[in-house]
Amino acid sequence: MVAPMAPRKIIIDTDPGQDDAVAILLALAAPEDLDVLGITAVAGNVPLALTQKNVRIICELAGRTDIPVYAGADAPLRHKLVTAEHVHGKTGLDGPRLPDPQMPLADGHAVDFIIETLTAQPAGTVTLVPLGPLTNIATAFEKAPHITGKVAEIVLMGGAYFEVGNITPTAEFNIYVDPEAAEIVFKSGVPLTVMPLDVTHKALTTRPRVEAFRNLGNQSGRMVAEWTDFFERFDKEKYGSAGAPLHDPCTIAYLLDPDLFKGRHINVEIETQSQLTRGMTVADWWRVTDRPANATFMGDVDADGFFRLLTQRIARLP
Ligand code: BDR
Ligand code: CA
Repeated sequence: MVAPMAPRKIIIDTDPGQDDAVAILLALAAPEDLDVLGITAVAGNVPLALTQKNVRIICELAGRTDIPVYAGADAPLRHKLVTAEHVHGKTGLDGPRLPDPQMPLADGHAVDFIIETLTAQPAGTVTLVPLGPLTNIATAFEKAPHITGKVAEIVLMGGAYFEVGNITPTAEFNIYVDPEAAEIVFKSGVPLTVMPLDVTHKALTTRPRVEAFRNLGNQSGRMVAEWTDFFERFDKEKYGSAGAPLHDPCTIAYLLDPDLFKGRHINVEIETQSQLTRGMTVADWWRVTDRPANATFMGDVDADGFFRLLTQRIARLP
């Protein structure tokens, strides 16, 4: 008999955000596939004081108060923090009201947790899943370069090529907030899988998809429906689309079912200098340079399969 594969060890680095929340729930709903070693919070959609609190709210909702939650960087490496309350609301998790978390923050800094955890693990065994600006990950790589060898891969949400930008005409939010950090990560030599807007703008909520969450009969399903109800309004107005993109869950869905996604292994560089295009992911999609490939940059998703997976897994939660 073939022994079952051990769950893949992951660290989620995040700035919740309703779509981050759905990603975290999806990961916590799949313990046979994913062993969440810890969740690290970073400033992004809202300031750190809120993102770290939101992570704990989400863990409590999932009944997973055993997951250590660490607070990390409260500002990008070089620039002032840019936030996205216009999308996610004042708390970052606007929509349904949830109680303040009872579970404490873990002691210590997120960056030290990342360094210590990776140092203690065998080479190439931990997957990092960044869902916000890359400040914590870049700081850990700068402080302890040996840990890059411990990372199996990085599966991140960020960037865009065909869709270009959502926070400026040419930049996606996560990369724009800390382009210097993104540059460090994209040059780190660690295998990268990138979920850009080109993919996430195809993972759109629709009424039936949202109602499927609401009708699951559990609190988590209801929360997912109410969160998406809240942040849908912004994308519907902006893009005239039927629903809103579930950006961050694409990363976890990829870990659970990579065949849902299609992309290309190409060179991706980060623009850090230009006033006009700072934070742009310069993706050599058409392979017109000889710069070496450093990322699998996704371009397509089976949206029905993605929502089927999400709904099935969220159904398992409290
Ligand atoms: C990304 O920015 C945030 O607003 C979302 O949580 C997602 O990570 C999309 O550009
Ligand atoms: Ca996010």
